[in-house]
Amino acid sequence: MTNLLAHLAHLEIASHDVAATAAFFEKQFGLRPVQTDDDGTTYLRCWGDYYPYSLVVSPGAEPALVNMAWRTTSADALEEAAARVQAKGVEGAWHDKRQGHGRSFQFTGPYGHTMELYWDVPQHQAPAELASVFPDRPERRSSHAAAPRFLDHVTIAASDVKGFAAWYSEVLGFRTMAFTELDHAEITVFSVLTTNEKSHDLGVVLDSSQRPGRVNHIAFWTDSVQELLVAADVLMENGASIEYGPSIHGVGEQSFLYFREPGGMRVELNTGGYRNYVPDWQANTWKPSLGSNSIYRNSAMPMSMTESFPPDEGRPTATEEGIVPGTEDAILNPYAQHGQG
Ligand SMILES: [Fe+2]
Repeated sequence: MTNLLAHLAHLEIASHDVAATAAFFEKQFGLRPVQTDDDGTTYLRCWGDYYPYSLVVSPGAEPALVNMAWRTTSADALEEAAARVQAKGVEGAWHDKRQGHGRSFQFTGPYGHTMELYWDVPQHQAPAELASVFPDRPERRSSHAAAPRFLDHVTIAASDVKGFAAWYSEVLGFRTMAFTELDHAEITVFSVLTTNEKSHDLGVVLDSSQRPGRVNHIAFWTDSVQELLVAADVLMENGASIEYGPSIHGVGEQSFLYFREPGGMRVELNTGGYRNYVPDWQANTWKPSLGSNSIYRNSAMPMSMTESFPPDEGRPTATEEGIVPGTEDAILNPYAQHGQG
């Protein structure tokens, strides 16, 4: 299959308090709002995003992933991708023009995640006062708050990690880069997929809830580990609490940092990681004890990191229960360290 998808273009998330979420992304994290609709829906961009926006925050009762939009590699690739999705029995819908980009095909995949594909989208044109001195930069570098460069990836939650990876690889050509399986049981709890040379732009964690279409986190990019460390510091100074990190994942080898926005959604800032161009790459299977989540193998991931969104109704969150990492059932906390050697 020729490459159908080029990269992740934008994400839309829901917040019960759009104004607070948008203000957080602007003032505390360092994105720039470019448009706000009458219902509060806010379009934001990082200074290095190539298109007009990369994040849409819209009103909703709960934190949720409303849409993940991917740019195709060509106009023909859009047609082919849509046909391949429909051939699997997923109907989808064509939109002529919406949210500032051209014709798109939107569908909800087998695990309940809504994905939109488009080719036609304008390049970002910076206002004169924000124009960069460098020709390739969409906008001048920002030093505001964490100043993320651009949108990086999204990690969803699905009831069958291998099934999700297989469907998106077969139908849309994602390369599956790695799996993580529990140390003590043959249960696949994590996988990473990519459309390009990045170690991943689509992650999937095991979802033990009954709710389809959930998301674990959305992620932005910064250029260096030093900037990541400063971002963690600045977020703390801005009143945010860091949920996990800074540290380095074994899978993908990115440096990472996780925190929450006021609507409850988990946000990641990351940098580094390997580049992988191997067309017939075979995904290896990691174990938590190998450092899949924390490359130094010396700390367990906080229990709260297993929460996905919208919340699992009726089940208290890990933070509400005050669960101590390592005391919860392994399926609920699949990343806890087991049998470290
Ligand atoms: Fe991530």
